[in-house]
Parts: sequence; structure tokens; C-alpha cells
Amino acid sequence: MALLEVENLSVEYNTKSGCVLALRNVSFSLDEGEVLGIVGESGSGKSTLALALSGLLERSAVIKAHRMTFCGVDLLGNIESVRGTGVFMVFQDPFSSLNPLMKIRQQLFEAIKVRCDRAKLSFNEDEARKEAIELLKEVRITDPEDVLERYPHQLSGGQTQRVMIAMALAEKPKLLIADEPTTALDVITQAQVLSVFKNVVNRRHMSMIFITHDLAVASQICDRIMVLYGGMVQEMGSTSEVLKDPKHPYTLGLIGSIPNKSKEEGELSSIKGYYTTTGIRGCLFSPRCPFVREGCTKGVPRLNAVDGRLVRCINYGEQYE
Ligand SMILES: Nc1ncnc2c1ncn2[C@@H]1O[C@H](COP(=O)(O)OP(=O)(O)OP(=O)(O)O)[C@@H](O)[C@H]1O
Ligand SMILES: [Mg+2]
Repeated sequence: MALLEVENLSVEYNTKSGCVLALRNVSFSLDEGEVLGIVGESGSGKSTLALALSGLLERSAVIKAHRMTFCGVDLLGNIESVRGTGVFMVFQDPFSSLNPLMKIRQQLFEAIKVRCDRAKLSFNEDEARKEAIELLKEVRITDPEDVLERYPHQLSGGQTQRVMIAMALAEKPKLLIADEPTTALDVITQAQVLSVFKNVVNRRHMSMIFITHDLAVASQICDRIMVLYGGMVQEMGSTSEVLKDPKHPYTLGLIGSIPNKSKEEGELSSIKGYYTTTGIRGCLFSPRCPFVREGCTKGVPRLNAVDGRLVRCINYGEQYE
């Protein structure tokens, strides 16, 4: 049985200026110990997917799905029950997730206490301290005793993100959802934090959904990649295959946007035009697609299975939804 199964998940935000369909019929499953990357440009629905899975969507959002289960439990009615124990979310800006008025020790203790309360175990401060130090060591904080006594503003961005990972681990979740956790960091710190994620996921055999707009980052940590555009899955497959042989023109564009030392300076190819999904007939990517042809605007292409991959492009079968 898969850890997480999602079938036809759609999310709609109702705004003053109308409805925004942020996710459209997204389906996937996630196995234990697997890392799934969600990649796509700003507005493609990545955070909405993360929030829907962790039960953190705002109340006005309308969520629909044929099925959404975690460890076999239906999430649609019980989403509160999996938060913390089952699913933990790490956000892009760790400072906004930490309480600025509390020392790291107090915040880690709180996370450990939540877990103890849930398991109906008593909370012991000495043991919690030992565990907090071990957790900080696990995320490669070199001076854990010192960091415990600091406030969030006394930490660097990389240290804060590591503390957030430690807070997540304190609750022993089965699934970690990380929404752009390295975007705000410089490239060196980004590589270090990525390696911490990789290490804890491997050691604990944890599953992870790793969200990033950067395919190069995703390729370093994810087993599989889901490419989102306009809230729809455009391509999904194993990371190595998607990178080696991208089938959807959008994935191809994302790969072309990865800076490459061998490319001449200024030659960085990017996807033409701007991201928008309003007033488009057929394939949402068609106005920006270099291979657009007549059939692209006939209807929304079906997600076709091609060589163990899923691709939503009529080049792989002219069928529509
Ligand atoms: N609270 C909200 N109310 C109304 N619309 C929203 C809300 N949150 C997101 N949206 C819209 O839903 C769509 C998907 O947004 P989402 O934040 O999920 O994208 P994203 O891929 O995470 O983007 P980014 O890379 O910028 O974080 C966008 O069109 C966005 O404007
Ligand atoms: Mg986002």
C-alpha cells in the first residue's frame, strides 16, 4: 500500500475578482521512503498542493478529490489527525515559522512535548534536552548547546532552516513536505541544507514531497518528479528519465533554463512569454510552446502514459479530456 494516494485533487480559491482554479485533477501516489519533487513556475499550484495535503489551506478554498488517503486513512474528512504525527511541513521562510520571542530550546521542547502528549508519554526535561541536542546534531548544527540558547534572530538562514528540519524530526512524521526550503538561501548553504534533507530522509526512511521551482535542485534529491503548469500535471516520471529525455515541451523549457557552465554567457534559454492560464483554449502551455500546432487548442490534452512516464501533450497521443 502506498503511503499517500491522491486521486483527482482540485482546489479552487474564491476571490473578489472570481474563482482561481489552482489545482486541477492532480493524481499521484507516494511510497514509503520515496522523495517526490514538485516542480513548476510561480503560480503553478505547488504550494496549494502542499497546503491541501497538510490541511493548511485557508477555509474559503474549495477542495475536491475522488480519493486522498494517508496510511489508508481518508484525508478528506480527517486531515487534522495527520498534521504533525503523519505530515509535517517546512516552509520557504523558516523565520516566519519560528516564534521570534522564544529560544530554540523552548521551541524544540514544545515539539517534543507535542509528540509525548500524543503518545501519552510523560515529558522529561533532561531527556528532551538530550534529544534536542541529538536532533540538532542530526541536522549538522556544529554547536548544538549554544544554538539551543539562542533566539531565531541570532541564527543564520541556513541554521534556521536546519532548526526547522530538527523541529519536524522531533515530531517523527512519516511524510515531510518541504515548500521551497532552500530558495531563500545562498547556493553554498542551499547545497548544505539539501544534503541535510537527503541524509535525514535516507537515515529515517522517511517520505518527502520536495517543492521547488528549480529543476536542478529537484534533480539532486528527488526519486521522481512531477511537473506542474496551471495546476495540472504536465509530466511525471523518474528524475533521471525526465532529465535525460524530457517529453513535455514545458519540461524541456525548464531544463533549458538551468544555468549551465558550458553555455555561453547570455545564452541562457528561457521559456518565452509570461505565465498565465486565463483565456487559454486547450493546452494551457500552448501560447508559450515552441512546438504549438493546430491540435493543441482543440481541447486539454489527456495525461498519456508513455514509456513509464505520464505526459500531457498531443505529441504523445492526440486525445483530449
Ligand atoms: N489564498 C489564495 N487566494 C486566492 N488565490 C490564491 C491563493 N493562494 C494561491 N492562489 C492562486 O493559486 C494559484 C497557485 O498558487 P500557488 O501559491 O499554489 O503557486 P506556487 O506554484 O506555489 O507559486 P510560487 O512558486 O510563487 O510559490 C495562483 O494563481 C495563485 O495566485
Ligand atoms: Mg509556493
